[in-house]
Amino acid sequence: MKAIVVTDEAAGTAGMKLMERPVPQPAINDVIVEIHASGFVPTELTWPPTWTDRVDRDRTPTIPGHELAGVVTALGYGTTGLSVGQRVFGLADWYRDGTLAEYVAIEARNLAPLPGDVDFTMGASLPISGLTAWQGLFQHGRLQAGQSVLAHGAAGAVGTMVTQLAREAGAYVIGTGRGADRQKALDFGANEFVDLEKDALKDIGGVDLVFDVIGGDIQKQSAALIRAGGTLVTIVGPAEARPADGLAVDFVVEADRAQLVEIVQRVRDGRLRTNIGTIATLEEAVAAFNPTERRSGKTIIRVRP
Ligand SMILES: NC(=O)c1ccc[n+]([C@@H]2O[C@H](COP(=O)([O-])OP(=O)(O)OC[C@H]3O[C@@H](n4cnc5c(N)ncnc54)[C@H](OP(=O)(O)O)[C@@H]3O)[C@@H](O)[C@H]2O)c1
Repeated sequence: MKAIVVTDEAAGTAGMKLMERPVPQPAINDVIVEIHASGFVPTELTWPPTWTDRVDRDRTPTIPGHELAGVVTALGYGTTGLSVGQRVFGLADWYRDGTLAEYVAIEARNLAPLPGDVDFTMGASLPISGLTAWQGLFQHGRLQAGQSVLAHGAAGAVGTMVTQLAREAGAYVIGTGRGADRQKALDFGANEFVDLEKDALKDIGGVDLVFDVIGGDIQKQSAALIRAGGTLVTIVGPAEARPADGLAVDFVVEADRAQLVEIVQRVRDGRLRTNIGTIATLEEAVAAFNPTERRSGKTIIRVRP
């Protein structure tokens, strides 16, 4: 099969190559999915599981990409809950070969059915950003109606989901980002916008939940804004910046079928829009992940037309 492969951590996305790889075999409780569309988070080439297995052994050459939408073509021993021919979407294991390929072997529990009226491109854009936003807001952040959320990077892949889900849950959302993204953040539903390059974060006063996708000094300044009992959730590294009188949660998104079903239902009924920028083929993928200018929105690789 055709796949994007990486072998050199230092080379980053420039080291991606389109190559022939063996079609994977299904292990116990796996399915094989014929991939139609695939999503990739550029920073995944800096994540340890891209390069080593769970006992820290080199696992290159690696196929990156952890989001997929496609059709089940085979079941492993003992697999239940999905059937051959079923349309699915979901989140691939960080430590196994990923989804920038024609086929992937993946545990069935990482997938959910993809309704017939949601196309594969849309399906592949949802798992990481949708699940990350859902888990950060509702599991780790315990968001309640009437609370306020500081949603950093509100025009990004995760931030647009955070903004929409938080608004739907009855929260007041202050989005942040670069000045050029103000309108996009407001279009996705932010009640107001803070330009991190110009405005002072401290001027927004207190918030109940900070959803941090940037880290560093922005995380520190944000922690200081959290009201008593509030929460800082971060997805970009240890939450060293503790809120004065609240909780800090540093988490990595997990696959969850029930949450994927909730997310895709919201796409179907128009409550959730995705933030897709570029759509490219597998042959175009290396160039698409090495853009010469700033791109807005998520890049989705359409593996089959
Ligand atoms: N732990 C987890 O489970 C998990 C899950 C998903 C994602 N992540 C991580 O979360 C981060 C965000 O992911 P994403 O897919 O949402 O990325 P994205 O689509 O690039 O969104 C990030 C947004 O924040 C903006 N931004 C970043 N730094 C900024 C700064 N210093 N000032 C102003 N704006 C800034 C970006 O603008 P520019 O594009 O102009 O920089 C972009 O609009 C990534 O590092 C990713 O690896 C972690």
